[in-house]
Amino acid sequence: MAEKIGVLISSTEVEAKIQEMADKISKEYAGKVVHIIGVLKGSVFFMCELAKRLTVPVTMDFMSVSSYGNDTKSSGVVKLIKDLDETIEGRDVILVEDIMDSGRTLSYLVKILKERRPNSFKVITLLDKPDRRVVDIEPDMTCFEIPDRFVVGYGLDCAQKYRNLPYIGVIEE
Ligand code: IMP
Ligand code: MG
Repeated sequence: MAEKIGVLISSTEVEAKIQEMADKISKEYAGKVVHIIGVLKGSVFFMCELAKRLTVPVTMDFMSVSSYGNDTKSSGVVKLIKDLDETIEGRDVILVEDIMDSGRTLSYLVKILKERRPNSFKVITLLDKPDRRVVDIEPDMTCFEIPDRFVVGYGLDCAQKYRNLPYIGVIEE
């Protein structure tokens, strides 16, 4: 059965919101170098669009994590697949996430990264599904809060497909 993708948030809306966030961050980090960390692979599209719009100096690094467990039941254990290339000690770090769901990934990342003593540490997420939270954690900045639906596009995948869609979509059966 061919999957049909409906538009939840258009590319125009996504990009306008990213511009708004970039302006806010550029103002807040004036005089500093922002070190943005992307969580592979989902955050890559968002990270690039955000980085292009920042007017403060930017450095970038990436990490990759996966959660153990099968599709239907997550064990809640997060595994580090790829660590950062550079130290974050003393740097002004913004962690860039594609989506916050249960909050488990973020809570793991925040814990291990804060131990490395950055000068400052904030989290920005493109999407947040607050209804799904099982860990008591909130991102510092959120572009869009969305209902509990499985979304694709703008970096987000379904079995590795649809990451390249220029909008946030939902799979319609
Ligand atoms: P968390 O640890 O439960 O917050 O999981 C976050 C991760 O689950 C994200 O980084 C995504 O990789 C994945 N995820 C959660 N919801 C969706 C969705 O609606 N579409 C695609 N991936 C999702
Ligand atoms: Mg992710």
